[in-house]
Amino acid sequence: MDRFIIEGTRELTGEIKVSGAKNAILPIMAACLLAPGKSVLTNVPNLIDLKTMAHLLRIIGARIDHSGDTMMIDSSDICFFEAPYELVSKMRASIYVLGPLLARLGEARVSFPGGCAIGTRPVDLHLKAVEALGATVKIEHGYIHATASALKGAQIRFEISSVGATINALMAAVLAEGETVLNNAAMEPEVDSVIEFLIKMGALIEGKGSTTLKITGVKHLFPVEMKMIPDRIEAGTFLIAGAMSRKPVTVSNCEPSHLTILMEKLREAGCEIDVKDHSIRIHTPGEIKPVNVITLPYPGFPTDLQAQFMALMTLSQGICFMEDTIFPDRFMHVSELNRLQADITLSRGIATIKGVKALSGAEVMATDLRASAALVLAGLVAKGKTIVSRIYHIDRGYDRIEEKLRSIGANIIRENA
Ligand code: UD1
Repeated sequence: MDRFIIEGTRELTGEIKVSGAKNAILPIMAACLLAPGKSVLTNVPNLIDLKTMAHLLRIIGARIDHSGDTMMIDSSDICFFEAPYELVSKMRASIYVLGPLLARLGEARVSFPGGCAIGTRPVDLHLKAVEALGATVKIEHGYIHATASALKGAQIRFEISSVGATINALMAAVLAEGETVLNNAAMEPEVDSVIEFLIKMGALIEGKGSTTLKITGVKHLFPVEMKMIPDRIEAGTFLIAGAMSRKPVTVSNCEPSHLTILMEKLREAGCEIDVKDHSIRIHTPGEIKPVNVITLPYPGFPTDLQAQFMALMTLSQGICFMEDTIFPDRFMHVSELNRLQADITLSRGIATIKGVKALSGAEVMATDLRASAALVLAGLVAKGKTIVSRIYHIDRGYDRIEEKLRSIGANIIRENA
């Protein structure tokens, strides 16, 4: 199993490039099932999660070719409607085939996703949405079995803002008969990106960028080509790496408008930030100031950057508090950061972070994707050697992170232990 060996330094500097957004590409790959023919996605990185989705789509009958940063998906011969346990248990985003399979084949059988390292993650909103669109849903033998002779437009109000449920409902509604209105829809840039892709395919969707989406069903969609948006979470991770360094770092190939709240928090922490069209330069000239964070749906602070921001706050000059309202139990990284001699306590879902002068290298274990990124960031600036094991978590969502970090001076190597 691979692990990272890191020698800490606070002298990172230079330019680091962001890849395409995993969380936009995963549902867009599933959306390709909606239109028979070959769709082409560009700016697609090499990530384990994307390989898992490609594996699933192949089982369903799609042909996929991923070479360089281009992925071709041919969904002419979709014939199978099942997402098996082995794949759904590896990656919850497999649930994204539910909407497209129902719309295209009238049937979907998806293994019921269990809990995961960041807490209980139900799929009730996905199921309620497809039921509202006329599907019959049964849970049997650990599988969600949904059938619909014809999907029909409906009014759907999500009780909670959910990225996944909004996207699944959209993908089912675009081929449904009549009009669908989604209220309290999620507004994350990844949702907008899926909407843009569906509109290119010929879908009729109004309200992009708002919490109310109106979809008028069409009879057919067509395969298209589209460049994938940059990954705001990867960009945010690198910005935080830059904030922890004493020298300037430029994060390029990113979309600054997707990172507004993070940049606000980083400025509050004492960082100087210069924004150009598709790049952001960050420099921390003095000490890091403590900043409180509460995660919220977009445009609020993303839960997927909570762990990394906490790594930054371990070095602040004071005390701050962090709460995750999206996944209240997402604090597995706390005990690992404390192994690096951070001073973090957790009580009633609130983390209290008392800044320390320096972190101290140690052996730590990655527990989930973003927690592992936080441990790498902490290791990059800790005194001495840090070993991060179980880094398969990080390979799910970061393309060659160690090579990218080496390009800004990090001393990090991958070792096969
Ligand atoms: C997506 C992202 C994930 C990110 C999360 C929140 C992907 C592949 N994953 O996950 O990285 O952390 O958005 O920005 O894009 N909920 C329910 N019932 C449901 C669905 C969700 O109660 O049926 C709750 C969740 O438990 C959570 C909240 O809604 O508290 C938001 O979750 P959601 O936006 O659905 O997250 P995902 O789409 O699973």
